[in-house]
Amino acid sequence: MRSLMVLYSYHHHNTEKVAEMIVPVLGAEIKWPEDVNPEEIKEYDLIGFGSGIYGGIHHKTLLELADKLPETTDKKAFIFSTSAGVEKSKTIKSHSALREKLQSKGYIIVNEFQCRGFLGKIGLGISRGHPDAQDLKHAEVFAQNLIKAKD
Ligand SMILES: Cc1cc2nc3c(=O)[nH]c(=O)nc-3n(C[C@H](O)[C@H](O)[C@H](O)COP(=O)(O)O)c2cc1C
Repeated sequence: MRSLMVLYSYHHHNTEKVAEMIVPVLGAEIKWPEDVNPEEIKEYDLIGFGSGIYGGIHHKTLLELADKLPETTDKKAFIFSTSAGVEKSKTIKSHSALREKLQSKGYIIVNEFQCRGFLGKIGLGISRGHPDAQDLKHAEVFAQNLIKAKD
């Protein structure tokens, strides 16, 4: 199985820390959205899309890439993010914009992952210390489950 992780992470590199837990489990390549040629996505069996949540949605470079992707019928994808606040509901609302774009292109979303990520802009900050060791362990288990689900 050839896997690709498309990652955008800048604020505290929180989402990058999460991606670094998933990448070795999947043996995935990792690329930033601007380095992805939309046509090359066809070469991968499983594609992960992730960034921090900024203003309630994924980073615009990921959303723009999703708009440019070729249509597919059977390509598997997963979505991940870090955000200062984590939603309790099963359907992660801040993933909706990216999820809807990918689904409209025919992607099958196999699973989604979100954990807290430190936001350092407000006062003393929100979710300081995250992602912590437990968050990163959850990310690793998430990746292991992606592999299991494939069998
Ligand atoms: C400009 C900006 C906007 C943000 N907007 C939100 C938001 O709407 N909801 C939220 O829960 N966190 C928000 N955050 C916090 C980030 O989602 C969080 O810090 C994330 O871990 C950043 O990921 P990164 O370090 O990989 O860039 C925002 C952070 C920044 C810098």
